[in-house]
Amino acid sequence: MEVWRAIRERRSVRSFRPERISLDTLLRLVEEAAVWAPSGGNAQTWRFVIIDDPILLRKVRMISPGLLGEPAAVIVCCQDMKEATRRGAELGETLALLDTGMAAQNIMLAAHELGLGTCAVASFHHTGLQALLGLPDGVEPHLLVTVGVPDSLPSPPNRRLDICGINHG
Ligand SMILES: Cc1cc2nc3c(=O)[nH]c(=O)nc-3n(C[C@H](O)[C@H](O)[C@H](O)COP(=O)(O)O)c2cc1C
Repeated sequence: MEVWRAIRERRSVRSFRPERISLDTLLRLVEEAAVWAPSGGNAQTWRFVIIDDPILLRKVRMISPGLLGEPAAVIVCCQDMKEATRRGAELGETLALLDTGMAAQNIMLAAHELGLGTCAVASFHHTGLQALLGLPDGVEPHLLVTVGVPDSLPSPPNRRLDICGINHG
């Protein structure tokens, strides 16, 4: 799929069909999309958790008010914050957050190309999820990306086009 088209067509999907997604596909989204995002200082302190176990998914949904619908899987985008602050000093935390966003967008665009729907979810109980997943000390979940076969696609919300300035030479 053409990149411009993927950028334009991707929507946040919050209604999914009850179809599973192969582990190969989910791994591909991480190994061939997420980790190919740019990373500040090439630190690559991101860590990913793939969840497609229905029982665990139900528990994740219970502590994630922003997670709507019943996706087949959730990719938890985490950062090793100990490593991020060690490598990036005072910039480490900011770089880690930015890296997470870029990796998540890669996942969402690649999933769209595969005909899958996704939604970024920041509204979840961070320490609850950390405990539920038994994440190592210092590894923090930053953003969930739900993945599933879309049931319906929302219409695109309007976009603001307020370019703050053009300094064209
Ligand atoms: C950092 C971030 C956090 C988000 N958190 C949530 C969330 O908790 N729940 C949700 O339903 N959507 C969430 N979204 C999706 C936005 O609501 C969505 O991207 C926005 O409404 C624009 O719609 P579109 O993605 O279809 O273009 C989040 C998006 C981003 C980038």
